[in-house]
Amino acid sequence: MRNDHQAAEKTRPSGDARTASICCPTDHAPIRLDGDVLVCPNCGLVGRLVGNIPSLMAEADPFYEGKYVNRTKFVPPNDGFLATLPFRIVLFGYPNEVAAALKPGAKVVEIGCAGGVDWFGRRYHMIGMDLSRKGLEIAGENYAQVVQCNATRIPLADASVDGVISACLFEHLTNEDKASMLSECRRVLKPGGKVVFFYDIKTENSVIARYRACRPDLYQTLFLDGDGHLGYTSVDENRAVFQDAGFKIIREVFHERTAVLASPVWYKLSRWPGIPGRVAQVMHFLGSGALRLPWLGLLWAVDCTVGRLLPATFARGMTTIAVKP
Ligand SMILES: C[S@@+](CC[C@H](N)C(=O)[O-])C[C@H]1O[C@@H](n2cnc3c(N)ncnc32)[C@H](O)[C@@H]1O
Ligand SMILES: [Zn+2]
Repeated sequence: MRNDHQAAEKTRPSGDARTASICCPTDHAPIRLDGDVLVCPNCGLVGRLVGNIPSLMAEADPFYEGKYVNRTKFVPPNDGFLATLPFRIVLFGYPNEVAAALKPGAKVVEIGCAGGVDWFGRRYHMIGMDLSRKGLEIAGENYAQVVQCNATRIPLADASVDGVISACLFEHLTNEDKASMLSECRRVLKPGGKVVFFYDIKTENSVIARYRACRPDLYQTLFLDGDGHLGYTSVDENRAVFQDAGFKIIREVFHERTAVLASPVWYKLSRWPGIPGRVAQVMHFLGSGALRLPWLGLLWAVDCTVGRLLPATFARGMTTIAVKP
C-alpha cells in the first residue's frame, strides 16, 4: 500500500501544462499527475505521461501508430480570401470553414489531428488528440496540448471547449463510434460551441460508383481496408448522426461531385483493369507531381461551379458545421 503522505508529496494537481484540463475518460473527474502516472481520484490509474505526451491508452494501436503523421505547415499572412486561398485548393476549404466558425483565441479540440495544422496552433488554444503518438509528437510543437486517446472517450470536462474539429477521421469510425464521438463532443462543448468535421462519404459519384460495381474487391481493398475506412455513410445517414446527437447543422459543403477527382483517388482507380485503369493512370499523373497544384485548382473551380449543379449524393466528401444549441 502506498503511504498517503508520500503520495500527497509526490502528487501534484494537473497544473502541469502537459496535463492541464485533462479529465478521467470514464467519470470526467480532473486527473492528478503522480510522477509520470495519471491518476483519477475515483478509478485510480488511467494513463501515463510518455515523454511529454499524456497517454490514456494501455498499448499502442497496431494499425494507426505512426501511420498518419501529416502536418499542414502553411500559415497565411492574414485572414483575407487570397491569403487563405491555398487552403481552399489543397484542403477543400476545411481550415477556412474552421476559421469562419470559431473566433481566434477559442479553445478548440482537434480529434485525429496527426501532425496538426500550424495555422490552428497560432490561432486557437489547441488541444490535439489522436490514437497515434508519432503524429502527436509533431502536433505538440504547435498545439498548446496533445493527448493520446480515443475519439469515443474525450478526456475533458463537460462544457469546457468552444469547438471540436476533425479532418479525415469520421470515415475511420464505425456507426456506433461516430455516435459515441458526437455524444462526447456535445458533452465537452459549451452551449453555442461548434463542430467542424471534414470527411469522406458514401458516394454516387459516377466514376467511383462504376468502379465499385465493376470491381467490389478492389474497392474494398483500396478505398476501405487500406486506409482503415470502416465504411462510408451517405449524406442523409451523416446528417442523422449529427442530429441524433443533439446538434443543429448550420452549414454543409460538398466536395468532388464530378469526374475531376484528386490524384490519390485516381491512383486507386488506376488498378481498374483495361481502358478505365489506363485513363485513371493518366489522370493520376496529371494530378500529381508538377501539375498537382494546377490540378487541385481546377478541382476547386469545378467544385464551386459545375459541381454545385449535381446532387449532393455525388460528393465524395463533405464538411459539416453544426452547433450545440
Ligand atoms: C486519415 S488520418 C487524418 C489526419 C489529419 N487530420 C489530416 O487531415 O491529415 C486519421 C487520423 O485519425 C486518427 N484516428 C483514427 N481513429 C481514431 C480514434 N478512434 N480516435 C482518435 N484518433 C483516431 C489516426 O491515428 C490518424 O492520425
Ligand atoms: Zn475515473
